[in-house]
Amino acid sequence: MTVKAHQNVQPMTAPFESMRDFAQALEHNGRLLRIPEMDQDQYEASAFAYRLIERMGFEAAPAFLIERIKIDGRWIDGPVVANFYGDWQDEALPFGIAPVQGNRQATFKAVMNGLLSRLTPAGTWHRIAPVVIPSDTKAPCQSVVVRGDAIDLTQFPFLKNNPADGGRYINMGAVVLEAPGIGRNVGTYRCQLKGPHRIGVNPEPGQHGWQMLMSLKRQGAKSAPCAVVLGADPITFAVSSSKFTGLGEDEYEIAGGLRGKAVELVKCVSNDLHVPAHAEMIIEGVIPLDATDDEGPYGEMYGYLGPKKANNFYMDVTAVTHRPQPWFANSFTGVTCDMPKGPQTASEYNRYKKLIPNLTAFYGPRGASGVVVVAIDKRMPGEGMMAGQLVAANPGLNKVVIVVDKDVDVLSPQAVMHVLGARWQPSASLMIPQTQMMMPDPSAPKRGLSSKMVIDATRQLPDEGGPKDWPANTRTLLQDGAPHAFDLVDARWDQYWKT
Ligand SMILES: Cc1cc2nc3c(=O)[nH]c(=O)nc-3n(C[C@H](O)[C@H](O)[C@H](O)COP(=O)(O)O)c2cc1C
Repeated sequence: MTVKAHQNVQPMTAPFESMRDFAQALEHNGRLLRIPEMDQDQYEASAFAYRLIERMGFEAAPAFLIERIKIDGRWIDGPVVANFYGDWQDEALPFGIAPVQGNRQATFKAVMNGLLSRLTPAGTWHRIAPVVIPSDTKAPCQSVVVRGDAIDLTQFPFLKNNPADGGRYINMGAVVLEAPGIGRNVGTYRCQLKGPHRIGVNPEPGQHGWQMLMSLKRQGAKSAPCAVVLGADPITFAVSSSKFTGLGEDEYEIAGGLRGKAVELVKCVSNDLHVPAHAEMIIEGVIPLDATDDEGPYGEMYGYLGPKKANNFYMDVTAVTHRPQPWFANSFTGVTCDMPKGPQTASEYNRYKKLIPNLTAFYGPRGASGVVVVAIDKRMPGEGMMAGQLVAANPGLNKVVIVVDKDVDVLSPQAVMHVLGARWQPSASLMIPQTQMMMPDPSAPKRGLSSKMVIDATRQLPDEGGPKDWPANTRTLLQDGAPHAFDLVDARWDQYWKT
């Protein structure tokens, strides 16, 4: 199950200007599988997404592109692309960071170091202000403009992922809002397709988009202009879908800093908001603030069906603008890897390094939302538990915080499970009864609340009740006693398989 590298696909150089540039770069590197057609009326694409991950694992599974897809009895041209962020080599691409071939750990380190080098000496993200291109310069995202009754969002390949979902969804769109006294926000929230020119807009309570809409409402506004950006460049998308900017901080500026190049914006055709000029499609509209609608249910990021919600925001669409043959991204939420991890992980590492000076690695494993692994260079009794408590005390997907020694590969679930079995005593743990937690964990007693667990799986020192001397690790003993053994096996590796 390998994908051919398509050297005939034009190589793209970072920073990319749009999602299609990123997809083409993945294809060039043999990390994108092209599929001519799929019948989503039979949920073929959704079942494929499950099988892809089940059979190949998160890291090996490539992105996939469906050229045309059957929805509600009609074949609709895409392409629709999914599973962009499976491996660290894929995360490296948009930032122009060279992956270390065949070495996932080294590639992860390269991505972390590359991103952390984009911080200012004060530890904040370097910023580059966006530039606004004049409206009369034809921005790619405004090549085609559709307004009023001519708008029909149902003709585009927005998918119903699961028969249990409440409908078809636009689930990789960045929602642009502005509010006096706060500024601008660009956040990725799923949007349920409600009709030819109506969509739901789902910032969860507490999200910046939600705070802005509530602020506008308090200020007496009856409606909020809004734009949903589809197929923005992968760094703007990553910033819009990661939790590391403060309310009122401009995601476009931070994306510019991470790209090393300003994001080019253009004014919307039916309101005064600004959107990335090179995006694939923009859905412009108005969110009423004195009316709401039902939303969902929807198969959410933990892989469970979320509740059908009453009183959610929705948007009446005033214009749709797009490239001539737009590309679409779909998140098979809770199945494929559609949430960029790079900037979020680098941000969290940066945040915790200030609190935990001997932190060596921080990682939330793919496919295990709610679990984080924290590696430290432990020197003193109590450091493991302290590091775990500091991480658990902060917001994030940190219901279970596992602290390990620096020699443990945080990227390897197997290595982490191994130390839980071999180094950890359950007495070295702490349960925090109830605290705030990001949604939508299906085990939460109430959405947004959770208990948490700190597991100190570092080797316990004698003062912590650990053994006087930890026995030597046998792999290390082999390495020390026969320093050339692994080189010998590596050199003969191919030979072993030639029978
Ligand atoms: C594919 C995808 C879909 C998402 N859908 C939602 C959503 O429907 N509602 C939500 O509140 N957050 C959603 N998120 C998470 C937010 O994008 C993320 O928390 C981001 O920080 C929100 O922006 P904000 O901090 O400006 O509110 C999604 C993330 C991804 C990657």
